[in-house]
Amino acid sequence: MNWIESFTSKNKPIVALAPMDGYCDSAFRAVCQKVAGGNIVVFSEFYSADGLHHNPLLAKRVLVHDPIEHPLVFQIFGNTPEIFLSAGKIIESYGAQGVDINMGCPAKKVVKCGYGSGLMVDRDRAMKIVNILAENLSIPVTVKTRLGWNGSDELVEFGQALEQAGAKLITVHGRTYQQEYTGNANWEPIFELQKNVKIPVLGNGDCKNYEDGMKKKWNLGGFMIARGSLGNPWCFLPENYEPTWQERLDVMREHMERMVATKGENRACLEIRKHFTHYLHGFEGVKEYRKRLAVVTSLSETENILKELSELDVLHLETHK
Ligand SMILES: Cc1cc2nc3c(=O)[nH]c(=O)nc-3n(C[C@H](O)[C@H](O)[C@H](O)COP(=O)(O)O)c2cc1C
Repeated sequence: MNWIESFTSKNKPIVALAPMDGYCDSAFRAVCQKVAGGNIVVFSEFYSADGLHHNPLLAKRVLVHDPIEHPLVFQIFGNTPEIFLSAGKIIESYGAQGVDINMGCPAKKVVKCGYGSGLMVDRDRAMKIVNILAENLSIPVTVKTRLGWNGSDELVEFGQALEQAGAKLITVHGRTYQQEYTGNANWEPIFELQKNVKIPVLGNGDCKNYEDGMKKKWNLGGFMIARGSLGNPWCFLPENYEPTWQERLDVMREHMERMVATKGENRACLEIRKHFTHYLHGFEGVKEYRKRLAVVTSLSETENILKELSELDVLHLETHK
């Protein structure tokens, strides 16, 4: 049974950590999956299909992961079907549960090369990519896209073609390419797509947490959370779960330890800083500590600051969340 069937066979909504470049590495995915009790599916940040195909060192660096992350889907971008297949085979050989194709990134440098959102308007190529992967991999192929280029009129037709080409699930961010991140996400066209395809469709855009997603999802197979998970891996838990102060600090420590183990201390210190800012966002009275964590240079220094934070009188910490 593949990961999608293991949700749908139990009638369980699919709840996912969305792909986020610069955030969804092995350490963050593991932390989210652990906090969620193994009940979600985690998507990686996007990686270049060409990069994985040409550079075995990149593959080793980004595809090695902890089985605790499973089910794990690696997202890739590019636009050459044969290269996608090669990258897909490599991903499969690293023991991941799925391959997701990025057909939604609006960044100019990505679209200019025909990648990301560029594939929404190069339909033949998009379908060839899905098809070659679906025909030759044993793990499911999924697609993440947007409502459309400048409107949602073609979403149903596009989604049906993806299904026909062999996609086993489609995620739709409820904004168009032209909107980038402006305005509110519109889920109505996503509901319409789900009415017209048999495979599960995930809604994405402006979901704060599990309860918010459950309210929004209506006829969909599930939902994805991106920004809501930053500094808040508890967002995947029911009943608006709020961690205790100590739980928060323990997760911050584990996140850092996992980063050090996977990327080495120097890189970990640089990359963990933005996560720490998110973890402590909205707490009054920790400004000094937040500043120190934003320039940490070693694991032991981080541990000392976290220890100091654990000794604070939490009754005086107010959250504005
Ligand atoms: C920092 C950041 C990086 C992102 N990187 C990716 C990416 O690599 N692949 C992708 O498909 N979407 C990416 N996205 C888009 C998110 O997956 C998601 O579609 C979008 O943020 C809307 O969901 P949200 O309202 O829950 O944040 C990124 C978003 C953010 C904020």
